[in-house]
Amino acid sequence: MSEDSRIQAVEKQLLQSQKMEAVGRLAGGMAHDMNNVLGSIMAFASVLEMEMDPDDRMTSDVRHILEACKKGRDLMLNLLGFARRGKYSLEWFDLNERSAHVVDLLKHTIPKKIVIETKFDDQPLPVHGDPSQIHHAMMNICINAVDAMDNSGTLTITTDKFIVEETSDVRFPDLEPATYARLRVTDTGVGMSQEVMNQAFEPFFTTKPQGLGSGLGLPMVYGTIKNHGGAVILESTSDEGTVVTILLPYNRTGSNAFPTIPGRKTTSDPALATILLIDDEDMVVKAEKRLIEKMGYKTLVARDGREGLRVFAENKDKISLVMLDMIMPVMDGEETFYKLREIDPEIPILLSSGYSKEDKAEQLLSAGADGFLQKPFEMSELRTRLSALLDMNR
Ligand SMILES: Nc1ncnc2c1ncn2[C@@H]1O[C@H](COP(=O)(O)OP(=O)(O)OP(=O)(O)O)[C@@H](O)[C@H]1O
Ligand SMILES: [Mg+2]
Repeated sequence: MSEDSRIQAVEKQLLQSQKMEAVGRLAGGMAHDMNNVLGSIMAFASVLEMEMDPDDRMTSDVRHILEACKKGRDLMLNLLGFARRGKYSLEWFDLNERSAHVVDLLKHTIPKKIVIETKFDDQPLPVHGDPSQIHHAMMNICINAVDAMDNSGTLTITTDKFIVEETSDVRFPDLEPATYARLRVTDTGVGMSQEVMNQAFEPFFTTKPQGLGSGLGLPMVYGTIKNHGGAVILESTSDEGTVVTILLPYNRTGSNAFPTIPGRKTTSDPALATILLIDDEDMVVKAEKRLIEKMGYKTLVARDGREGLRVFAENKDKISLVMLDMIMPVMDGEETFYKLREIDPEIPILLSSGYSKEDKAEQLLSAGADGFLQKPFEMSELRTRLSALLDMNR
């Protein structure tokens, strides 16, 4: 490569990364506001659904509102997956188990003439990270494969261990030599031209008709897998099909993966628990309060971190859990978290946000926060998280 063309290549890469960063920043700001809007619509619609007679015709209208919100949420999750750098939960999970779960979901939704074939490694494939982000990435890859097949074909999903040697081949130049858990999704669809492949990871690039594709699926996959220290590889031949491969660090710590979780009691009695909500956004607080009270818990509310600390100190004996927003004026989630921990090192703190700057949430999780709930959340999600955390604390 001549000096000139090397300079050109570097400039092109720089421009590209600046563009990605600008889009990322925009996406983050948007996601925060949109997620709050979606969150409050979802919360009030869930309360309505619970209060209405299941046979009432309007109940199905409410379900449609919830469905639409979930579509909006998936879109925001893709945007965030591309934009953000943090992971919102850090746990060991088995890539085989996740893949099997994805296959189960697909079986119910894809056209009957698409055959799914699977071959999973016979040993568990422990991976450390955010299982729901990885799940979402796998779904994006599989849905692309299904879309490429136009109603019939074969979707093959395989997993195995894969070793990247020191002298690794050019397909993954920025991967550390190590063992990886590998997932391959192969389709017999239309395939991609070299030109499409070059752009496939760019946000908003889509070849699908307007309204059918937003061009955020693969950027989400890319952002998420990178963020987990892995890589994504596309291989495709026009008219023959595509193979999408993801590699994720395999049991990198070498420690005992899948530690046993101490036994938890089954149900907690919501009536006995008071939850402190700390969030600055009026519509969010109103919606969350309504939803949580509908589940039977009592609530206390504070509009920023400083007020949160005061309310907590005054009601310490009756508060069983704190739900803490990350981005707030006066005192943000991070500072509030540490101050709460000073007052009470044991109180369960569930972080929740529509977007958390960089890897703030990840830092707080490592510092002992008890979980992160991505806004907007579904009622069932919130219910499960609350009762798990409250049981743990008995
Ligand atoms: N398995 C595949 N076979 C053929 N083309 C693919 C495949 N996966 C992705 N592509 C191409 O890459 C483009 C970008 O994919 P991406 O998932 O980012 O966006 P999308 O599927 O168009 O929209 P979205 O995922 O946001 O609904 C697609 O429009 C398609 O042209
Ligand atoms: Mg897609």
